[in-house]
Amino acid sequence: MVGESAKNMIVFGDSQNMKELKNESVHLVVTSPPYFNAPFDYPDLFDSYDKFLTMIKNVAKELMRVLKKGRIIALVVDDILIKGKKYPIVADITKIFIDEGFRYRDRIVWVKPEGYIRISRRSGVLLQNPYPMYYYPDNLQESILIFQKGEFDYKSISQDIKEVSKIDIEEYKKNKWYLNVWYITNVLPNNNRLEKGIAAFPEEIPYRLIKLFSYKGETVLDPFMGSGTTLKVAIELGRNAIGYEIDIELLEVVKKKLGIKQSYLIRDRKEFEIIIRDDAKRLRTKLQEKVTKGRK
Ligand SMILES: C[S@@+](CC[C@H](N)C(=O)[O-])C[C@H]1O[C@@H](n2cnc3c(N)ncnc32)[C@H](O)[C@@H]1O
Repeated sequence: MVGESAKNMIVFGDSQNMKELKNESVHLVVTSPPYFNAPFDYPDLFDSYDKFLTMIKNVAKELMRVLKKGRIIALVVDDILIKGKKYPIVADITKIFIDEGFRYRDRIVWVKPEGYIRISRRSGVLLQNPYPMYYYPDNLQESILIFQKGEFDYKSISQDIKEVSKIDIEEYKKNKWYLNVWYITNVLPNNNRLEKGIAAFPEEIPYRLIKLFSYKGETVLDPFMGSGTTLKVAIELGRNAIGYEIDIELLEVVKKKLGIKQSYLIRDRKEFEIIIRDDAKRLRTKLQEKVTKGRK
């Protein structure tokens, strides 16, 4: 059980149940869930859209339990187009988190550079048919949804901790963190990269969110860890890091990203505690086979 003195921990298992975490033991959540059955990443992962939303709801409940009062959950999400139908994931997730008792605080639009589009170029339809009704825009953005669990007590943080966690105003101004539109290059789909087959987000996203919404020495959780981007950045910024990932096939990728040499066992108080639960699954190989088949 991880509590106030939590260090770093990785659990391979389903984050609908985060029994390893005590109530109110986490200071910030930075994450990105699967985008339902996204064709490039998770074809047929869920039997239905309702099952996907139920999973999100169960995770939201667990996050309400483990998050400290006043603290933030930041979720990177987007609507997804599957076989010509768009699923309103951003709206549905917003509704679920509000229903679970979180305050909807902000939506930041993450804009990727033109030309680095990963989603299919739908706009070509109009070039083929330059007439009304053939308009399908290319998607260059995703949403970063920000939720808060009640009011934050600004007085609960000592001046010393505030000082060591101070935000660099030059960086804040120069990179326009003050806007609710963030221009950040996405992780490019490249066969040689460590995150192959994982819809990883760029380090700049957790970097900004962790700096803006947590203090040094606090604990950051990612309940959909993937390759471990959030955890890597959290450690680099002097925070503790906890991740949950259902796919045990990502173990080696995560260890590589975090520079973990061996698997430390439960209760072994080393840098990262790694717990492999019975509900972990083997997903990536099968998913990638389906993605490749779908492209042919
Ligand atoms: C969009 S990816 C996260 C990528 C991550 N942000 C990164 O930079 O690598 C979502 C991850 O959630 C995992 N996942 C899906 N359902 C889960 C569940 N119920 N519990 C834990 N992890 C889950 C998927 O296997 C996938 O690796």
